[in-house]
Amino acid sequence: MVNDMERPESLENRWDILYREYPEVYDEFATTSRKPTNAEVLHKMFNFKDRVVLDIGSGTGASTFGVAAYAKYVIGIEPGDAMLGIAMKKLKGKPNANVEFIKGKAQGIPLKDGTVDSVIADFAGPIQPDVIKGFVKDAIRVIRKNGFFATVTLPPKGWYGGELQRIIVDRSEPPSADEFGIPLHRTYQEDLGFEHKDFYQIQEYGSVEKIVAVYGFIYGR
Ligand SMILES: C[S@@+](CC[C@H](N)C(=O)[O-])C[C@H]1O[C@@H](n2cnc3c(N)ncnc32)[C@H](O)[C@@H]1O
Repeated sequence: MVNDMERPESLENRWDILYREYPEVYDEFATTSRKPTNAEVLHKMFNFKDRVVLDIGSGTGASTFGVAAYAKYVIGIEPGDAMLGIAMKKLKGKPNANVEFIKGKAQGIPLKDGTVDSVIADFAGPIQPDVIKGFVKDAIRVIRKNGFFATVTLPPKGWYGGELQRIIVDRSEPPSADEFGIPLHRTYQEDLGFEHKDFYQIQEYGSVEKIVAVYGFIYGR
C-alpha cells in the first residue's frame, strides 16, 4: 500500500497501477451501483441456474459474487495479488458462499478439461488479438458440453463513459477506450464468431465527492 503523501491526484487511466496499488479504489469503482448489473444481464441472456461458472479475471470479486447470486458455484481466477487479496477477504466474511478464488491467468487455465458449465470474462482477460484467440480456445477446453462462454467488453465507439465521456476519452494520452475497444470487438466477433449484444447501464455514484475520489482518481483530473 502507498501512503497518502505519495498518492497521486489521479492515475490518468493507468489500470495496471490501479490493480496493483489501489485495489480498494478499484473495488469501490466495481461495486458502485449499476442498473442493471452485468451479472443480471448475463443471467437473463444465458441463465446461470444450476451452473458451475468460471470467472476469468475476477479482480476484487465484484463479478464473481454478482454471478454467484444466480449460479450453483463460481470459481474466480485472478493473477493480481492485491486484487485477489480483497476478494479473499470478502470471502472470509461469507463462509457459506458458493464461491472460491484461485490465482491464475486466462492464458493456461489451471482446470481440467470439461470441469465447468460456463466461462465468463467480465471486463477481463487479455486484450491483444492473438492472445485472446489462445485464451478463448483454452476456455472452451474447460467447458462441458452445452456450456457457453460470455465476455463483457468495452462498449461500442462513442459510448464509453456515458455522460462523462468528454472528460475521460477526449485526450490524446493514453489511448482512448475506442481505440482499445474496436480491435477487441473485431477479434471476438469477426475472428472468433461471437454474437454480441449491446446494453445500457446506469452507474450511480451518489455524490460528486465519490465520483471525484473514484472515477476522477482512475480516469483523470
Ligand atoms: C477490469 S478488472 C475486472 C474485474 C472483475 N471481473 C470485475 O468485474 O470487477 C480486470 C481484471 O482482469 C485481470 N487480468 C488482467 N490480465 C489478465 C489475464 N491475462 N488473465 C486473467 N485476468 C487478467 C486484472 O488483474 C483485473 O483484476
